[in-house]
Amino acid sequence: MLDFRLSQLSLGVRIGLSALVLVLLGGLLASSAHLVEHHENRDEREGMSLDDVVGHYHGIQTQAPLRVALERGHPETLGDTQRQVLLDWLAGDRISEDYDSLDLGDDAPVEILDSACLSCHSANASEGDGIGSILPLEYFDEVKKQAFSREVSPVNEQILLASMHTHSLGMGTLSLLLVALAIFTRFPARLIGLLSAGCGLGLMVDLAGWFLSRANADLVFMIVGGGAVWMISCALLGLLALAELWLPARRTG
Ligand code: HEC
Repeated sequence: MLDFRLSQLSLGVRIGLSALVLVLLGGLLASSAHLVEHHENRDEREGMSLDDVVGHYHGIQTQAPLRVALERGHPETLGDTQRQVLLDWLAGDRISEDYDSLDLGDDAPVEILDSACLSCHSANASEGDGIGSILPLEYFDEVKKQAFSREVSPVNEQILLASMHTHSLGMGTLSLLLVALAIFTRFPARLIGLLSAGCGLGLMVDLAGWFLSRANADLVFMIVGGGAVWMISCALLGLLALAELWLPARRTG
């Protein structure tokens, strides 16, 4: 294989290269932090989850669980008038305001839920086979989680294209440099081969996933999986290059 090693370079070049590799590794760290910050509320729920990625690239449409249950006729014991009051409440845009509105009297959602649901849907309900601990409806904090429909639009196609063009050029060039540096290290060719393949394929799968998951939400695993493989491979290639730059040079010959 190649005889040349990064450790044979002059001190000045090794200092320069090390600083540049550190900058690239810092960039990787910063971009993962940015990724979380940028996406974590994409699905209108706190914290980072797969739904945030699905929301961004594919979009999410879900019906409020309360509405789904009421529309399918659950619970059978609920009268038509009260069911309609609840459905109208959920369809409106005053879900929080009207929940326990005094003006509505007995028609306030809190009153209906109290009389029609809490015998099963509360933490210490005796009926309902334990549904009360899985899906309690006693306090507004609990009701709120079931009351809102979600509609998250995927990122606009022009923005996706613009973002793709900067990301593919930037991430592609960065990966290329790290692979090139790692080739000139003393570490086993197989390891370098594995990491280079991970770096290249990971990035390709990740970026292809941006477009493919628009049509099929299941394909966001390409973005998450490919991205993770890419990130880890890149970081390791960078660390191996750094190690080679500062390990004592081995005279070959
Ligand atoms: C007699 C007990 C009982 C009562 C009363 C009851 N539920 Fe349920 N509920 C259940 C059980 C058991 C499940 C889980 C199995 C199922 O889905 O049927 C459930 C499931 C649900 C679900 C989960 C989503 C779904 O469609 O399955 C929602 C939402 C729900 N109930 C809302 C309500 C609301 C709102 C009321 C009052 C208007 C209510 N329930 C009254 C027992 C009850």
